[in-house]
Amino acid sequence: MRFTSNSLEHHWMPFTANRAFKKEPRIIVKSEGIYFTDHHGNRIIDGCSSLFCCPLGHGRREIAEAVYNQLLENDYAAPFGSATPGSFELAEKIARIAPEPINHVFFVTSGSESVDTALKMVMAFHRANGEAQRTRFVSRERAYHGVNIGGTSMSGMVKNRETFGGLMPNVVCMRHTWDEGQLFTRGQPEGGRELADDLQRFCETYGGMTIAAVIVEPIAGSTGVLVPPIGYLERLREICDEHGILLVFDEVITGFGRTGSAFASQTFGVTPDLMTMAKALTNGAQPMGAVAVQDRIYRTITDAAPENAIEFFHGYTFSGHPAACAAGIVTQDIFQNERSFDRANDLSEYFLDGLFDLQDLDSVRDIRGFGLLGAVEVKPKDGPGTRGSAAQIALFNKGMHAKFTGDTGIVAPAFVSEKSHIDEMMDKLRSMLSEI
Ligand SMILES: Cc1ncc(COP(=O)(O)O)c(C=O)c1O
Repeated sequence: MRFTSNSLEHHWMPFTANRAFKKEPRIIVKSEGIYFTDHHGNRIIDGCSSLFCCPLGHGRREIAEAVYNQLLENDYAAPFGSATPGSFELAEKIARIAPEPINHVFFVTSGSESVDTALKMVMAFHRANGEAQRTRFVSRERAYHGVNIGGTSMSGMVKNRETFGGLMPNVVCMRHTWDEGQLFTRGQPEGGRELADDLQRFCETYGGMTIAAVIVEPIAGSTGVLVPPIGYLERLREICDEHGILLVFDEVITGFGRTGSAFASQTFGVTPDLMTMAKALTNGAQPMGAVAVQDRIYRTITDAAPENAIEFFHGYTFSGHPAACAAGIVTQDIFQNERSFDRANDLSEYFLDGLFDLQDLDSVRDIRGFGLLGAVEVKPKDGPGTRGSAAQIALFNKGMHAKFTGDTGIVAPAFVSEKSHIDEMMDKLRSMLSEI
């Protein structure tokens, strides 16, 4: 296929400057290991596990073969009232690595669906528990929880909200956890635990017994890697417990090893009531997400319904799709066999050393990072986000992919990266940052 403006016109691309892109397309035609090839034949190092999805690298044959074999054996069966075997096997594998007592898994097909599903579970739980008055949700500034109506309502990003009037009512946002005092902090900032007391203030303002849940990303990922201050997540947990509020961790980015443990919840030692996940669940090879919940959430909702009745009126046509489950099962097996989460942990130090070495550059405003997740924020020029967009394109033209949000570039190498790959990423970043 030749890529001309006409041949690209029919695809309305997501989160993309469509008109600019179609004039100057960047199309990936092949991916293998941690490299892409674009339509000009250029090699591009994947500095962000694509979109945090592919920690095992691209083109994993074991996953592809499992999907292919599954489609030939049993391609699809209705997931309502019947099921295919892989969904049970994958749920068990996830429950095994999730923090206790999180042990029930509901499948969806994306991170956005996992968030909206979690919100509905929260509502169903409180109703089943005789507390239907808990209708308020608490989120956070600079949060990203996907793009469905629930997730958009929880979003703390103005661009993602301002166009869409009819979002969920009764949502309040805590302050985000970044401030100037944290510039160039590696790992968890020391100050800022007290920001969790915003939740306490909401309890005092609205009544703790009206709040259904708090949803946070353990590390705010898409808005530029905002690492939680020491004690912050613990304090949120404490306030939730005091007031009977459910705590939801959105682990769509942090899940499956990015912070060096299976989930960030384990890395930070704080257990939520519900946990959302997607992306690396299948190493990006099939679209899939999930919500994992504590035993009492599942039991309360299921036990409240009459015997033989559907307990939770929710689900998707492709919940637990056999091909996605096949990809998920093999991905989880590889994580275990290759000790991938330990590898992410081992590589973190080297990665963060490289990233923080970039702080001598004039264009750099801040660097943050934890595990194999890091951010380089550039000083804005010509208005917010303009320099960041230019930086992303300049980096791609130098042969590296990273995600940019506004003026922040986010780097999240695959766990299978070698130190030489990290060096290559840092060289390309340095070269780009010196020129923009
Ligand atoms: C924390 C978080 N939640 C939800 C989502 C939405 O996931 P998806 O794009 O698969 O719908 C994302 C996507 O980046 C995310 O980072």
